[in-house]
Amino acid sequence: MKSRLPGLLSVLLLFSTACSGDDGGGTDSGTDGTDGTTAGPVEDAPLGGNHEVVDFPDGYANGALYTTVDKVDNLQVRRMFANDAALNSPADSLDYGSKIVMEIWSAMTDGDGNPVYDDQNRLIADELSIVALMEKQEGFGNYTPETANGEWEHAFFSPDGQDMASELDCYGCHLEMAGPSTEYMFTFSQLKAWQTEPAPVGGTTDLLNFPDEYLTYALATTVDKESTNQVRDIYANSVAVDSADGEFARGSIIVMEIYNALLDGNEQPVVDMDGNFMKDDLAIIAVMEKQQGFGNYTPETRNGEWEHAFFEPDGTPMASEADCYGCHREMAGEGLDFVFSKAAIEAL
Ligand code: HEC
Ligand code: HEC
Repeated sequence: MKSRLPGLLSVLLLFSTACSGDDGGGTDSGTDGTDGTTAGPVEDAPLGGNHEVVDFPDGYANGALYTTVDKVDNLQVRRMFANDAALNSPADSLDYGSKIVMEIWSAMTDGDGNPVYDDQNRLIADELSIVALMEKQEGFGNYTPETANGEWEHAFFSPDGQDMASELDCYGCHLEMAGPSTEYMFTFSQLKAWQTEPAPVGGTTDLLNFPDEYLTYALATTVDKESTNQVRDIYANSVAVDSADGEFARGSIIVMEIYNALLDGNEQPVVDMDGNFMKDDLAIIAVMEKQQGFGNYTPETRNGEWEHAFFEPDGTPMASEADCYGCHREMAGEGLDFVFSKAAIEAL
């Protein structure tokens, strides 16, 4: 691998000039025009990508695997992943922070070097050789207009996360996909096609199953709902409890039992010695579950990788007109992860 020293030096210089208030838009000094000079970018985009600007996208496989391309001609399988910033971007563009990763695998071959196919007639991924990254950040892509890919940068990495040198003209090739609504990506339409449906009102039991064992989960909190005269017990499985201090891990299941409150002769809730509502019958079991591949919905409606559903107390799916995803998007912010009772689960 080439010496990283020149790269480090220019990054240090970039940070020291960035102290003057501009947070590092350009990669060369004095090119932003604010100091009276009009010099534009003078460098062509580098062959093989730019490791001085982008780092290995740790955890990229936690993103959505939105498409897989079989390359029969050169016996490769290419798997494309998008991170949350990309998945939550508007329909016709990608926001800053978007990272698109292409894993390049060799395809499995038989003794004669011919490709082996699975039962769906797809190539079988054998060995991962390259992790290719495109990343969009404000101020990236400070290259001559003939070579820049907007604010996208490219790089190849080895599967263990090391910088990988390459002589390929990433920017030159991906320039073919310049233009509105393509974002220099060859698989932009596949990414957007992955999320064309709005999240369903009332949830879905297509993917989410009734968690039979939910009574073994930890009881996180009980909510007296005065507006609806209900008592709500909220349970979290161990995956959810163990990960609640950060973003909930895949495999998290949160269950809310919704009881009607016991009412007196005047239709008022009866309270116990502590002033809490008392339970009457169990009316609904509400479930949310997070898994890889869940949440394949439009950016405006999805709840990350969560799915929702209502069930009858006996576990049969219950139709509902409640807009689960819409309401739980109130909790879309950092550290909330679409869950109203996150603090209570974290406190367990
Ligand atoms: C010869 C043209 C060419 C070159 C050079 C090239 N790419 Fe690509 N790239 C493609 C094509 C075509 C696809 C779509 C998938 C496919 O068919 O393999 C793609 C897909 C990708 C993707 C997935 C997102 C997308 O655009 O669909 C990433 C990430 C990527 N390339 C990164 C790189 C990096 C990093 C380099 C340079 C080290 C590079 N590419 C060089 C043609 C090229
Ligand atoms: C009107 C807004 C609203 C709608 C619609 C809604 N929820 Fe909720 N949900 C809440 C609130 C608020 C809580 C917190 C507990 C409480 O106050 O009842 C909650 C809690 C939950 C919980 C416990 C985890 C948490 O976020 O605290 C689950 C599970 C749940 N809802 C599932 C569903 C399902 C399934 C649907 C759709 C069938 C749905 N919700 C529709 C507002 C809503």
